[in-house]
Amino acid sequence: MSEKKLTKQTAIVTGANSGIGEGVALALGEAGANVVVNYVINPDAANDVVQKIRAFGSEAVAIQADVSKEDQVINMFQQTIQQFGTVDILVNNAGLQRDAKFHEMTLAQWQYVIDINLTGQFLCAREAIREFLRRGIVPERSIACGKIICMSSVHQIIPWAGHANYASSKGGIKMLMQTIAQEYGHQKIRVNSICPGAIKTPINKTAWDTPQAYNSLMELIPYNRIGVPEDIGKLAVFLASDDSDYITGASIFIDGGMTLFEGFATGG
Ligand code: BGC
Repeated sequence: MSEKKLTKQTAIVTGANSGIGEGVALALGEAGANVVVNYVINPDAANDVVQKIRAFGSEAVAIQADVSKEDQVINMFQQTIQQFGTVDILVNNAGLQRDAKFHEMTLAQWQYVIDINLTGQFLCAREAIREFLRRGIVPERSIACGKIICMSSVHQIIPWAGHANYASSKGGIKMLMQTIAQEYGHQKIRVNSICPGAIKTPINKTAWDTPQAYNSLMELIPYNRIGVPEDIGKLAVFLASDDSDYITGASIFIDGGMTLFEGFATGG
């Protein structure tokens, strides 16, 4: 096993019972962190992730909380601090899509996606920052006072027809992340975004689950493969560890080149 870079640190990963969140929770656990596996529905899946993390020799616990609800987020942080003493790392991952043509999009579809994807990141980041400031730097664990990783998307810069709510939430995350990074850099709090392209998870199943869909997806990806949650997990460990100590306010695209606009390889 690789060197354990996150030993004695505690991480909360929101939406960690499936997809990218699960991949990140496992990678942080393997790197030695205590991990809070946050979920809203499907506790069995969350408990599976907890068991896998314990098999690495790290501590893990599943905590239910809807990230768009202030009281539930506050409660999740309180439970985490009771159990592990503090929080060192927040991975603001929970997110979803409710796609619709713009002229047919209901206010409920718009609001739901903004509430979870953007307001959820605000509420969790605010609690994390409050705890980082309360605790201060603990040099034995990390040079930084705390680390926040926001799960954004290539769609923080690529407009996406039929997904105005989702793309807007990701564009909002970009400025939220940069503003917090600017505001708390002096306190040695690092805040960065991971911007995944197409990663093989339930959220985008229709984009990869038939050969035809997969082939048309590959037309968007110069590197010619779909990503996997492990790709994101490795980047999250790097951004959570002191290896990335001089990185803050950055958006790191991990997309097989999707943001290179492959259409221009032959057009333009
Ligand atoms: C979306 C996926 C999509 C990918 C690339 C992600 O943010 O959630 O559904 O496949 O971006 O377009």
